[in-house]
Amino acid sequence: METVKRRALLGGSATMLTLLGTQQARSAFAAPPTSPSSSMPSRRARLEVTENPFGPAPAARRAIEQSVSFAPYYVEDETELRLRIAGQETLSRDQVALSNGSLDALSLLTCDIARGGTVLAPHPTYVTHLNYAARRGIETVYVPLREHQIDFVEMRRAITPATRMVYFCNPNNPTGQMIDHEALIGFCRDVAPRCPVVIDEAYYELLPDYQRMTLSPLVREGLDVIVARTFSKVYGMAGLRIGYILARPERVKQLYSLTTTSRNQPGYRAALVSLGDLEYLQAAQTYLTQCREKIYRVCETHQLKYLKSVGTFVYVDTERPALAMRDALARHAVDIRVFDDARYPGWIRIGTATPAELDMLAEALPKALAEVRML
Ligand SMILES: Cc1ncc(COP(=O)(O)O)c(C=O)c1O
Repeated sequence: METVKRRALLGGSATMLTLLGTQQARSAFAAPPTSPSSSMPSRRARLEVTENPFGPAPAARRAIEQSVSFAPYYVEDETELRLRIAGQETLSRDQVALSNGSLDALSLLTCDIARGGTVLAPHPTYVTHLNYAARRGIETVYVPLREHQIDFVEMRRAITPATRMVYFCNPNNPTGQMIDHEALIGFCRDVAPRCPVVIDEAYYELLPDYQRMTLSPLVREGLDVIVARTFSKVYGMAGLRIGYILARPERVKQLYSLTTTSRNQPGYRAALVSLGDLEYLQAAQTYLTQCREKIYRVCETHQLKYLKSVGTFVYVDTERPALAMRDALARHAVDIRVFDDARYPGWIRIGTATPAELDMLAEALPKALAEVRML
């Protein structure tokens, strides 16, 4: 089977969004420029990832093109972007470190900070960096979510002298749920004096009133809280590998001491021009909201329970074994993600995608549901 990657699927729509500008791009979702019908069987819908096919801001696209003339050179000085981020957060430059995607920062810091001890995290959550640490002998102790929310009582109880780091993702991946802001702040104030708390804000621009929901004020206070952010998600630049952390100066130094390589020119320059581009962010948020609404409608058509999400994905209860559903959907060219958790045997995570890919989901889902026996 010929595999047409998302870029090919998206080519027309990405170009059109640039040409239209962000204002008109908001309505582009309703009239997708790519038709799913003609070559659908030969395509795959990549709903197993949590990218943002809306893509980079117009200014970022121009910066990427112009970065060709800088390609022969390393990014030797990343001060400008660090200063811009610091200015946005009312922090100083030495409280900001850049990384090659936020995953690099999360993985390197987890391994270094938790060496000889354990990490504490809720489950299900984003685990790529925790699995990376596990491969290096660092265990994560997982505390189950309670009704899809963080159980702060149990999280507190689970802290032991071996706990070296606590990890939260807000909004949580895969549930798309926002963590209770006051409870999270209270937890950090109690715990950070003994053990660093990492708050992964990969999708934070999608939180309602997001500038108030970040925990960067706790970094400003000097607490040992590490906020991780990325240009991969709402800024639509997953392929350009630019992320950053907000943290105490000693954590910033720690990350730089672990980092093996410099930033890339297109990513660095695109991040510089798109940081805080409110018009673009609003358009991207609108696009992603429409994607989620479309996934909700597909679920409702088949009476499937789902969680209303503020992420770039929706957590859905298929009431059938999740792995069998994944395989059945894959046979119909739709890829989704399953998080291994015995308490959620039927739940799958469906990522936001292009309208054409979501149309493929709408076609494939009833077939897969018919093929897999209920739990
Ligand atoms: C919660 C969360 N954090 C971090 C990442 C890593 O993203 P990146 O390395 O592209 O910044 C992801 C990617 O899926 C994610 O979902």
